[in-house]
Amino acid sequence: MKGVILAGGKATRLRPLTWVTNKHLLPVYDKPMIFYGLESMKKAGITEVLITSSDSHLAQFINLLKSGHDFGLKLSYAIQDDAGGGIPQAIALAADFSAGQNILVLLGDNIFDHNLSTAVSKFEGKKGAMVFAKRMPTESKQYGVVELSKNGKVISIEEKPEHPKSDLAQTGIYMYDRRVYDFIKKLRPSKRNELEVTDLNNMYLNEGTLVCEIMEGLWIDAGTSYDELLRANNLVAELTKGALNK
Ligand code: G1P
Repeated sequence: MKGVILAGGKATRLRPLTWVTNKHLLPVYDKPMIFYGLESMKKAGITEVLITSSDSHLAQFINLLKSGHDFGLKLSYAIQDDAGGGIPQAIALAADFSAGQNILVLLGDNIFDHNLSTAVSKFEGKKGAMVFAKRMPTESKQYGVVELSKNGKVISIEEKPEHPKSDLAQTGIYMYDRRVYDFIKKLRPSKRNELEVTDLNNMYLNEGTLVCEIMEGLWIDAGTSYDELLRANNLVAELTKGALNK
């Protein structure tokens, strides 16, 4: 399986921090944010990773990460022409890179310690899509919200619903089969005028091939607000120091 890390977007919620810098280059404790996604890919057993970002920021990622050798990864880069085109538009850039293989997609501002390697091995060569959800009892409505049946089947996913049907937030971690690029071509922009990952996932749901894994441990969408970014810094610092003191 190949990996794709999305590092584009306008990051309006983090301005003025992001007027001239890409949010995925901002520090989270002792590293730039993008390092965490790369480490998660490595832990998941994925070695070939595509990074997508806008034309104005991509060169900075290349300067920082180069071939990926220092991370034990082989990195490729793709320019996202329309920074506000939405997650599926960026995923579509991986069509040639993935060369018929399934892909693991990470939003570069999602920081987590769940090990994806078991899910990745199981999904290798499989048909369908997989989303990862995290219980967020008080704040699920600011995310995509996943509703599961008693036996763990996905019933619905709604993007930032007014009345969430569950406390399960759809995280920015997804796996897709090779047909994802055909599905993306059928998507239409949402009210916020971008292609929505939730609409893409609902296409798999309607086909009956969408599965969901609930994540344990830490998960932060560090790009949602200054407070989440600060929380990410503090939590990662605690975890790092805890690990160092052991
Ligand atoms: C996006 C997705 C949303 C998901 C979130 C996770 O939201 O649209 O479903 O819960 O990422 O990070 P956005 O950050 O674009 O508002």
